[in-house]
Amino acid sequence: MKRDRDNENVTGDGVRAAGTKNCANRATKVSGQLERLHSEVPLEPESQFASLDEATRHLLERELSRRRFLAGSMAVAGGVVASQVLPYAEAQTEAATPTVPDVAEVNLNVNGRAYALQLDPRASLLDTLRDDLGLTGAKKGCNQGTCGACTVQVDGQRVLACLSLALMTQGREITTIEGLSDGDTLHPLQAAFIRHDAFQCGYCTTGQIMSGDACIREGHAGNELEIREWMSGNLCRCSAYPGIVAAIQEVAAQGDA
Ligand code: FES
Ligand code: FES
Repeated sequence: MKRDRDNENVTGDGVRAAGTKNCANRATKVSGQLERLHSEVPLEPESQFASLDEATRHLLERELSRRRFLAGSMAVAGGVVASQVLPYAEAQTEAATPTVPDVAEVNLNVNGRAYALQLDPRASLLDTLRDDLGLTGAKKGCNQGTCGACTVQVDGQRVLACLSLALMTQGREITTIEGLSDGDTLHPLQAAFIRHDAFQCGYCTTGQIMSGDACIREGHAGNELEIREWMSGNLCRCSAYPGIVAAIQEVAAQGDA
């Protein structure tokens, strides 16, 4: 049986036979639908139409004109709504949008020095330090608050400079790695980092030191686990963690920070 069917399909006879059958089925179906339509929709008296075709054409035209009428009504209604509601919505949007000045005067205190700056109010503290003040110690790693490379201190607390607006740090004391040492004398934690070989490429190092210094003053450097927990926001791609933890632990134990 299967072989016969396959042969028919290969020669094309089967395909033609199936096509003819499908057409016949479809014609029967359409004719049934038309008959149902005539029985459900009341028509003008039968005498008005000479044939079934004419009655069908009449029905289709009536349906078409009904749809055109509905479409036209909806377009008019849409136009009325748009002309009345849109100006109101636009006015509301304009009223709700605050105007932001292009330039703002910002006074910063960085490493004990005062700076009067004209800044884009949206400027981050990190970009301001690096681009406007030339203090490139704080690094831009991710620029989205996940790596800690940009860590600086504001009023003694560690903050991510990439997520802080410069505008928001006015009147506060900002300390960067450049302000941590005393002239040529390194900060104890800087010296400890060198002793413990706590870096390789050094890209994360300034953030690690600024964060580690605050971590010690916060009292979160009692043991290795505590240091790892409270320094977990500072990532090191070179994986110099053993040296970093050892340096912080040593300075914390000496009470030098
Ligand atoms: S650059 Fe700020 S957290 Fe990565
Ligand atoms: S020393 Fe290279 S990323 Fe930390």
